Amino acid sequence: MASASAFIVPDCSSSSTAASRFIPLNKIRIRRVFQINYHPISAVRWGPKSSLLNININNRRLFSSMALTVASNAETIAKVIDGKSVAKHIKEEISTEITRMKEAIGVIPGLAVVLVGDRKDSATYVRNKKKACDDVGIKSYEIHLPEDSTEQEVLKYISEFNDDPSVHGILVQLPLPRHMNEENILSAVSIEKDVDGFHPLNIGRLAMRGREPMFVPCTPKGCIVLLYRYGVTIKGKRAVVIGRSNIVGMPAALLLQREDATVTIVHSRTKNPEEIVRQADIVISAAGQPNMVRGSWIKPGAVIIDVGINPVDDPESPRGYRLVGDVCYEEACQVASAITPVPGGVGPMTIAMLLSNTLSSAKRAHNFE
Ligand code: GUN
Repeated sequence: MASASAFIVPDCSSSSTAASRFIPLNKIRIRRVFQINYHPISAVRWGPKSSLLNININNRRLFSSMALTVASNAETIAKVIDGKSVAKHIKEEISTEITRMKEAIGVIPGLAVVLVGDRKDSATYVRNKKKACDDVGIKSYEIHLPEDSTEQEVLKYISEFNDDPSVHGILVQLPLPRHMNEENILSAVSIEKDVDGFHPLNIGRLAMRGREPMFVPCTPKGCIVLLYRYGVTIKGKRAVVIGRSNIVGMPAALLLQREDATVTIVHSRTKNPEEIVRQADIVISAAGQPNMVRGSWIKPGAVIIDVGINPVDDPESPRGYRLVGDVCYEEACQVASAITPVPGGVGPMTIAMLLSNTLSSAKRAHNFE
């Protein structure tokens, strides 16, 4: 075990900012900004601002035996935000609800997935989503079109799914091939079935005060649900979102703002990212850059949600690579009060939120409470 004055040698060698690789532990003063406790949903006060995040699940008996995972090294103080475990519980709740709905009104939620092209990562995501549907009892429909399909072909399938009453959610896997107009295609999905929350109307409503989107994008929603479930206060906190993508960064910033955080977005053209991130009580990183956020970027006691899932070469792994986040985990653990691991943090929550949105859609369509 390292002594307090030892140097940490984190495995963050693929970071582009190698200068801060070695951090003397005795230079870091930890001040807890948050008291992190795990909360079952039923124990969390879901304020009016959080109605958007209500995952619409009957959760009376849940989470009573949930054990908190704390990083094991005595020098390591951050609590591990265990997305895998939270997602598993949410999936169990969804499965129970689906059984209840099926028995009461004979309806099974349906999710249609449209995949265009042969990107391996997209195929993996779609396979995982389909498997998760099977796990909880959602019927999934998949259309896989070749890379050179036309926009009209994609629109035709979307139109059919819009009209199909057994389909309650439609997801078009992104990115689409470059010759397609993403905006046209996402706009064609019925807003009542837009379980990804990417329809311009849903995103517009998310951005506006006093408006309610029908669905919230799954990854950002998963981040906020994790903060809630671990009892992290968002209201009044300084939050920094790293990345401004339509899928994660931008909606995550909007959601944090709706939760009354003071939000700053850091992106590839930001001049002083370290300085800005260092002011944050809550960091959501969706930069797609392995180990970019070093321990020295983090305010002591901050809560870190790492959305990055980046493959880096690893000759010792049977696959030749392993997955790391945007945040140098080993360093961040020494400074933050809580952190999501990669893998096992936000990733499983994205799928759980997709299932939750699909269940909500089916309940809404059939007026089932
Ligand atoms: N590509 C990467 N993430 C996502 C997602 O959450 N939804 C869709 N549709 N495509 C993605």
